[in-house]
Amino acid sequence: MSEKLHSTANFAFGGLGTIAFLAAAVSAVTAACNDPTGFSVPSGPGGSSSSSGPNDISGSFNEDCPADGTWIPADGGLTPPVPMVEPAPHPDTECPFYRGAYQNFMIAGAPKANGDPALVDFATLDDTFTSQFKANNPYVRNSGTLDPAKSADPCVNSGGASGANTARAGAPTGRAWLGVVRQAGHRNVLVDQDHHTLYYGLHMNQAFVEFVKANNLQTPAGILAVPPDLAFPPGVSEFKTAWKDIDPRDFPDSSGNLCTANGKVSSPTDFPGDPGDYSNYITTTAWIPWLTQDPVTGEMIEDADHPVLRKVALVAIHCVYTLPGHPEFIWGSVQHVNTTLIDPTVLTFAGQMVLGMPDSQPDSISPDGGPPALPDKNDPQNTNNPVPPGGTKHYLLYGNQALESVSNRGPTSDLDLGFDASAQTFAAVTQVFRVFPGSKADRLEPDTAVFSLNSNLNVLYGNAIDAGLIDTNVDKRVNYRLVAAVWMDKPALFGLGTRGANGQYQGMTLQNDDGFNPLVNDIKASPPNIHPEISQGISCGTPTGINGQAPLSGDVPDASSFNNTVPGCDTRADEIDFMGANNPLRGDDGGLSPVDPGADFASHSVGSDSPFSMLGGEDRLSSTSMETFTQNDSFHNCFSCHNTQPTNTDGVAATDPNCLFPNSPTNPACPTQTVMPIAAKINVSHMFSEFLIHERDAAKKLGVDAGF
Ligand code: HEC
Repeated sequence: MSEKLHSTANFAFGGLGTIAFLAAAVSAVTAACNDPTGFSVPSGPGGSSSSSGPNDISGSFNEDCPADGTWIPADGGLTPPVPMVEPAPHPDTECPFYRGAYQNFMIAGAPKANGDPALVDFATLDDTFTSQFKANNPYVRNSGTLDPAKSADPCVNSGGASGANTARAGAPTGRAWLGVVRQAGHRNVLVDQDHHTLYYGLHMNQAFVEFVKANNLQTPAGILAVPPDLAFPPGVSEFKTAWKDIDPRDFPDSSGNLCTANGKVSSPTDFPGDPGDYSNYITTTAWIPWLTQDPVTGEMIEDADHPVLRKVALVAIHCVYTLPGHPEFIWGSVQHVNTTLIDPTVLTFAGQMVLGMPDSQPDSISPDGGPPALPDKNDPQNTNNPVPPGGTKHYLLYGNQALESVSNRGPTSDLDLGFDASAQTFAAVTQVFRVFPGSKADRLEPDTAVFSLNSNLNVLYGNAIDAGLIDTNVDKRVNYRLVAAVWMDKPALFGLGTRGANGQYQGMTLQNDDGFNPLVNDIKASPPNIHPEISQGISCGTPTGINGQAPLSGDVPDASSFNNTVPGCDTRADEIDFMGANNPLRGDDGGLSPVDPGADFASHSVGSDSPFSMLGGEDRLSSTSMETFTQNDSFHNCFSCHNTQPTNTDGVAATDPNCLFPNSPTNPACPTQTVMPIAAKINVSHMFSEFLIHERDAAKKLGVDAGF
């Protein structure tokens, strides 16, 4: 959260606190040396609310978001689970939501004895769901053969490429663990600077698996019969990971040959502090699918049943989880950073020097070549910007001084990807930049709580290194930081929407600014409905309790600036000028007209800090490596696809009535087939729709009917 509306100037940055902080952070991350400032990392059960002691710099942030000392237990144990408490909505701090996202990353990213992250043991679709076609492939996920007589890998098969081809034409040789190389949205393929695609993983925790079992959702029939209202319980988490191929065998050696152990893997970036290799990334060896291309459509086809074993590095990870009162999930995202460099966006817009520069991509910049900037509202791809966002620098997913106009996009046709099947490479490299530097539509600044948490993590990790609790040669979590997160600030509004012409629920889009936000729409009723039952937090609210509970602090349901007993509180009643023309807060035009939140959202003059916001956190959050092609305004944030609407095979909402009940979801008239034909609360997760897609694909391969 940022400061309340109407009080934009309370960033109290600079001064001694900043200097002390920077010193602490530098010491912490460059490691090993003693921390001269004696900065004390907060710790305590469930996380303390702020740091303390002589070097407390929390006052230099307007919202301190501590990293919890218990995340790295002194006994060397594992990061504990996220505490199951319901944080208050706006305008209370958003910190607990961000902390939970990062804590889940620490759980999933913890190194096992062999260096692999704990995530490798988390359940995948193959573990959780029951395929009708299981008999066709008996292998468990993340398995394959290294037998030179049987391998589907030209680097392993003694017969080379032709031997591997033969193997692929035969019975399954294993089961891939990563894949889904065609990204959700338009199903584009991201090609990295080394001409390989990224490989994605979908994982869930045990609570997710148990929820699936307890509700008989393991099969297509069970999923399609789900009660629309069935919602996820607290404690469930799911992850999506993006991995880069860093296997030497996929890089030419000095003689230009592939498939040797001496392939020269290029440096991730050319920034100072980059070790020049992937030694500070979380890595694993994973069975990945063999790729082929449909010669007619260009569509990339994954053969998960004849996988190859490759070394891969974790570029980014979505850490998504439920809390009490939040069945819609908190959608958090974590990325790799260069811990020796200052995050330029935080420095530019908040004046704070926080170590940890995102190094997969640059931020969008203004056309004069200045610092990071929001894209032109009328030109979301910044087509007319003549300045390359990354300058001459080489990021993990950006280089070649690419302009924004040609970045975050692939060729119009997949046939133009320039796919070379034998090398599994692509000619058409994707250049990537972050379209919304602070992941917010209305403002550039990253959220104070986000960068405060990230800077506190520098200290937490640094102290743990000093105390010998973390060995940076083994534990690479140290090099990842939170991008941001988005969730429902008013989860009481999480629902199934209205019923459509077919009598079925249509689902909800869960966006502030697409015309379907009930808080915005219902004030147009006469009299206006300000939803007095939906709280705005416990320190300032309408009413004051959470979602209609007994008031906990001094505000009243129809509070305005006149009877609002919490000074500075900005309620929906204040905003729409319940008390008439004398309200000084009335309207954005100095009091001439009432506030119109619909117009304000549309013009991006307000965002998720508005009392009319359904969402908390960042309303333009995306991952540059996972939602690369939908970062511009076409898909606003995670909820654009992760909502309660029916779903199609592109992984987005299916809204065409021709493709919904009572018509067949596989109606040939549908350009994109429907995969989950009913609105349901579980549709926020795509695990179910993705499993259904897998089932249909498996059926197609066998030439049989999937039965749905
Ligand atoms: C354009 C649509 C789209 C957007 C935007 C999107 N996702 Fe997804 N997401 C999907 C689809 C579809 C899948 C299933 C796998 C696939 O097709 O890639 C998925 C899978 C996931 C998974 C694995 C579990 C699951 O639900 O299937 C996570 C976690 C996830 N996304 C997180 C996020 C986060 C966090 C954001 C926002 C930063 C986000 N997604 C934005 C479409 C989207």
